[in-house]
Amino acid sequence: MASHSERNREYFDSMAARYHTEPWIQEGVAMIAEGVDGHRDWIGIDPSNVKNDQPSHKRSIRLLDFACGPGIISQVLGPHVSQVRGIDVSEKMIEEYNKSAIAQEKGKEFMHAVQGDLLDPAGADKKLDLPDLYEFDLAVVSLAMHHFEDPDLAVRRIGERLKKGSGVLLVIDFLDGSSNEESIFQRVAKGHKVLTPAENEKLNALPAAQRQRIETALNGATPTIKNPAFSKARMEELFKNNGFGKNFEFLTLEGNFERMGVFSTKLFMSKAQLS
Ligand SMILES: C[S@@+](CC[C@H](N)C(=O)[O-])C[C@H]1O[C@@H](n2cnc3c(N)ncnc32)[C@H](O)[C@@H]1O
Repeated sequence: MASHSERNREYFDSMAARYHTEPWIQEGVAMIAEGVDGHRDWIGIDPSNVKNDQPSHKRSIRLLDFACGPGIISQVLGPHVSQVRGIDVSEKMIEEYNKSAIAQEKGKEFMHAVQGDLLDPAGADKKLDLPDLYEFDLAVVSLAMHHFEDPDLAVRRIGERLKKGSGVLLVIDFLDGSSNEESIFQRVAKGHKVLTPAENEKLNALPAAQRQRIETALNGATPTIKNPAFSKARMEELFKNNGFGKNFEFLTLEGNFERMGVFSTKLFMSKAQLS
């Protein structure tokens, strides 16, 4: 496994169990769930395509939830697609994903996630060489692109898993320039952890235990982050340069994501189709 992926695996293994309990993560995840659910049409999972007598989950849409974590995207879109597969580099995240209610209830054939590293520059992990990890209609990468060493490689490798000429990739991530939050990661990475007065005020208002968790999270997460945020222009270029030359779209989600309860930032959703 490439060393940056290994760093991500270690960090996310260590925090998989508390992903669902940390309040700021819950709030962020709820914001994404609402944003995705409210934009199903825009994403291409159009409720008007569903015949009245046909339950939406019977429609043939195969979804890849890449860097799925415990599976928020799979939970939200699962009821509207025919099959879901998750891939993540963290074994512990995969355990959480496969334990989830919807995966249990509908069974492995319908929803299942697999551990592996698709992003090794030397070649994708052989564990991911399974026939049902190809030919997807839609892939979603939520809150993970900023962790990848090489986003261009990620987009290309995901593109190889989609249906040629029609597959769509949706990316949800932090909007560049929407906060000074990326600078905190850069400052921490360089060992100059200086908070702005506004950040300090928010931090000091938090209970000591939460401040301690933020400190730990900042120190743990910083080395896993390669591109803290993305602009619209960067997303367009990322898609175009890597095979997704059709139907580029970009929107900003309403509201702010209060990352770690202190660093206010905005999220975007962007998608494009394979050329
Ligand atoms: C912040 S979590 C997001 C999880 C989920 N997509 C969500 O929206 O809640 C980032 C995820 O990216 C995964 N990840 C990081 N690097 C990866 C890689 N090289 N391949 C696959 N998954 C990776 C982590 O293990 C983690 O589960």
